[in-house]
Amino acid sequence: GLRKKEVSVLCLGLDNSGKTTIINQLKPTPEQERVPTIGFNVERFKSSSLSFTAFDMSGQSRYRNLWEHYYKESHAIIFVIDSSDKLRMVVAKEELDTLLSHEDIHSKKIPLLFFANKMDLQDAMSSVKVSQMLCLESIKDKPWHICASNGIKGEGLQEGLDWLQGKVS
Ligand code: GTP
Ligand code: MG
Repeated sequence: GLRKKEVSVLCLGLDNSGKTTIINQLKPTPEQERVPTIGFNVERFKSSSLSFTAFDMSGQSRYRNLWEHYYKESHAIIFVIDSSDKLRMVVAKEELDTLLSHEDIHSKKIPLLFFANKMDLQDAMSSVKVSQMLCLESIKDKPWHICASNGIKGEGLQEGLDWLQGKVS
């Protein structure tokens, strides 16, 4: 049969933003284990035309120095934000800015998919507000897209994956 194109995607964002929950939802058979990621996990899932290998990184500060080792080989980045975590939005922006200025990312036209996650929570900010707080409009040299999402229910994930598929294929 037809082989799907292989794509490596790097899943980044602060601890507790919902990266593992989202990646788990994208898998054919989601599992029921939600613990903070140690280091990183490698997971596989498919979209209609692509076969993804996802590097689900730990967002804990002590592990964030691992992220950069995967920049070179990645075809896309999924960056997850806890939309209800107003206090740490500035930390998320700092990590995003550090990512964008890294030499392995800076000159690359790599697509960036943002999930404004936990949209179900009462005090969640809208995806428009999240994109303003992260200054996404200032990203001119890479395609980017932001979706509101609920990682637990899987809402918003397909929209994001469809967009990503269009950018990497
Ligand atoms: P690290 O591995 O530590 O970097 O965290 P992570 O980004 O992988 O977060 P994880 O997926 O482990 O989720 C953290 C917590 O948020 C868990 O209790 C999840 O159930 C919860 N969570 C994830 N997505 C959502 C969401 O959309 N809404 C709500 N209410 N909770 C969510
Ligand atoms: Mg995790």
